[in-house]
Parts: sequence; C-alpha cells; structure tokens
Amino acid sequence: MTDHIFDFIGGNAGEWKIVKMETVIGDPIQDASYLKIVNSNLQKTNEDLWTIKGLVSNVRYAEKEEKEKLLAIQAGLGRPADTCAALIPIRKNEAWWNLAQDERRKIFENKSHHIQTGLKYLPAIARKLYHCRDIGEAFDFLTWFEYAPEHSNAFEELVAALRNTEEWKYVQREIDIRLVRL
Ligand code: HEM
Repeated sequence: MTDHIFDFIGGNAGEWKIVKMETVIGDPIQDASYLKIVNSNLQKTNEDLWTIKGLVSNVRYAEKEEKEKLLAIQAGLGRPADTCAALIPIRKNEAWWNLAQDERRKIFENKSHHIQTGLKYLPAIARKLYHCRDIGEAFDFLTWFEYAPEHSNAFEELVAALRNTEEWKYVQREIDIRLVRL
C-alpha cells in the first residue's frame, strides 16, 4: 500500500502557485513557480524542477491527552476558504538524531511547548506532517499548512514563536515556501 506516500513537485504546473520561497537556514532549493502534490510510491521520480517525497506516519511525541485535544479541534485539509498554504521542509542536525526519544520529547514539548503553542492556532490553521528522513530525502520532514487569508498574521506569529524555541536550535535546514490555491 502506497496511499500514504506523496510527491511534492515544484515546477511549472500545479494547483498551488508559489508566491514566496525563502531559505531560513541551510542550502536553498531551486526556485519554482507552481507546486503539485501527488500520490506516489517510493520510486525516485525526476519530474519538473524538484520532487520531495514524504509519507504520513505515526505520531512520535504527542501523548494521549495531547492527541485527544488535537483530534477534538483540528481541521482537515481542503477547506474552500483556505486559499493560502505553507510548505516548510525541515532537516534537523545529527545532535538531535543522536538524542534518545525521551530527551527529544523533553526538548520538543517540555521546553519548547510545540504542541501547547500550536494548539492555540487550531482550527484556523490546518496541518499535516510528512516524514522523509528514513527514505533518504534531503529533508527529515515536510510540514504543510492551509489557512484562510485572514489568518495569515496568526500563522506568521506561530512560525516566529516556534523558530524561537530550543527545538529550532537543532534545525539545520529550513525552506519556507508560501502558496496560494489556483
Ligand atoms: C498549526 C499548529 C501546529 C500544531 C498543532 C503542531 C503540532 C505538532 C505535533 C502534535 C507534532 C508531533 C507529532 C508526533 O507526535 O510525532 C508536530 C511535529 C512537528 N511540527 Fe508541528 N505543529 C504546528 C505547527 C508547526 C509549524 C508552523 C511548523 C514549522 C514551522 C511545525 C513543524 C513541525 C515539525 C518539523 C515536526 C516534527 C518534529 C520531529 O518529529 O522532530 N509545526 N507538530
């Protein structure tokens, strides 16, 4: 079954128009005008300018109570009013990956309050996390968000808050791609 594997394809065609591409830290990726997201498999494809694969996986850090809170208020993707999106591919450094799971959880939530902070922005911001470290991609995660234009400022505030955390000290590559639905 490969219905949980997706290709994020940057190029000259797609349902999302790229309005901004900013390298936050690390190497940039090639500028592209459009993005399409297609169901795929693990085979390498060389479509358009770049393709990054990501897969939907199980949660690692969220605890039972947090999972329940998220489930209770989070919104699904594809709401018609959500014409804005952000694709933020992220890679964390070796120091992060060398930590034990419990040490990472402490940094992620106890110190950085990632979930606690994120919850304040639901359901305005719809989110989906894709993993790509274990399939040999240049990034560890593809983070995807959809929101209505009136929540753009809230989204900026959330991104700024997260980038200011202990967790982000371990981020060695981050590209911030903003898009609008065509
Ligand atoms: C919209 C509000 C947000 C909520 C509610 C939220 C919630 C979460 C949760 C629950 C996880 C952990 C999943 C697990 O247990 O494995 C997670 C992981 C992650 N989130 Fe967020 N998040 C939000 C916004 C963001 C933003 C804006 C970014 C990027 C700028 C981001 C980047 C990530 C990354 C990279 C991971 C993976 C961390 C890792 O496994 O090391 N999140 N998020």
